[in-house]
Amino acid sequence: MANHFPLVTSFLLVFCLSSTALAAPSYLKVGFYQKTCPSAETIVRNAVKNALAADSGIPAALIRLHFHDCFVRGCDGSVLLDSTPNNVAEKDSSSNLGIGGFDVIDAAKAKIEAQCPGVVSCADIVAFAARDGVQTAGGKYYSVPAGRRDGRVSLAADAANNLPGSFFNVVQLKENFARKGLSLEEMVTLSGAHSIGDSHCSAFKKRLYTFSSANPQDPSLNSTYANFLKTQCPASDSTNPIVSLDPVTPTALDNTYYKNLKVGKGLLASDQVLWTTPATRSMAKNNLNHPSDWAQKFAAAMVRMGSVEVLTGKQGEIRKNCRIMN
Ligand SMILES: *[C@@H]1O[C@H](CO)[C@@H](O)[C@H](O)[C@H]1NC(C)=O
Repeated sequence: MANHFPLVTSFLLVFCLSSTALAAPSYLKVGFYQKTCPSAETIVRNAVKNALAADSGIPAALIRLHFHDCFVRGCDGSVLLDSTPNNVAEKDSSSNLGIGGFDVIDAAKAKIEAQCPGVVSCADIVAFAARDGVQTAGGKYYSVPAGRRDGRVSLAADAANNLPGSFFNVVQLKENFARKGLSLEEMVTLSGAHSIGDSHCSAFKKRLYTFSSANPQDPSLNSTYANFLKTQCPASDSTNPIVSLDPVTPTALDNTYYKNLKVGKGLLASDQVLWTTPATRSMAKNNLNHPSDWAQKFAAAMVRMGSVEVLTGKQGEIRKNCRIMN
């Protein structure tokens, strides 16, 4: 068998070279619009700041928008497309309940189109806006490689099939992220985004009242926290209100999320499992103990997530209006 080794090596070398050349990030470039639309990133940043003044939930909405864009047909702005009489779009899937931030993207796009028509993709605007959301919520600034093109397909069923569920266990979360080329550690790191934003009661209510026949209340849920959640989400209430994902620092993008997990205050089952599962608990502990390392890893993981299955070059289009195909 030993004589197969050189063959294997050269095969691997060829494979590695070609896979590097094909990897999406090499097509995306920091400063992509420097010559063609130099104000693009500033316009987006100002749109985010303006929206933030009226709504502290904007950073969480924009980060989620980018995530939900990237996990469904890649970061191609497909989440922005409106439904038509013939098609239910991603944004109207029940998996996208409460999704927002569209007005910020529209405001930025309108200003950008006025300056440099037909140049800046909606998918890139989402990526820039998510970065600005991270920074304005207290996270680390990072440069966003750009050059994404906008997709022409948006199907509600794709959202349901690709977005992680709020009752996923670690095996399911790992598999869900692996399908997008993201590691278990990146999954744990990105879950820290749940240190801001909120969730509808419907995403976790089962944990309070109907968890299992033996335990109507999820035993991994802190009982003090559970009592509070029951006041927010009464069993008989059908209005489906929202609750902060991080009960301690709900608008600061920080590692309090991991501190909460330690004391049973992960809101979603898919949050708390990161602590109750040994394979991810060590990672969550690291993020708890080393906040600046986590912030750095979070920024890096956002860039990686932002390169998932992107359209580049002549693929797709540059939409004129982010809600409608050209
Ligand atoms: C539950 O939360 C309370 C504070 O709200 C804390 O004092 C307690 O230690 C937590 N319980 C567990 C098991 O971590």
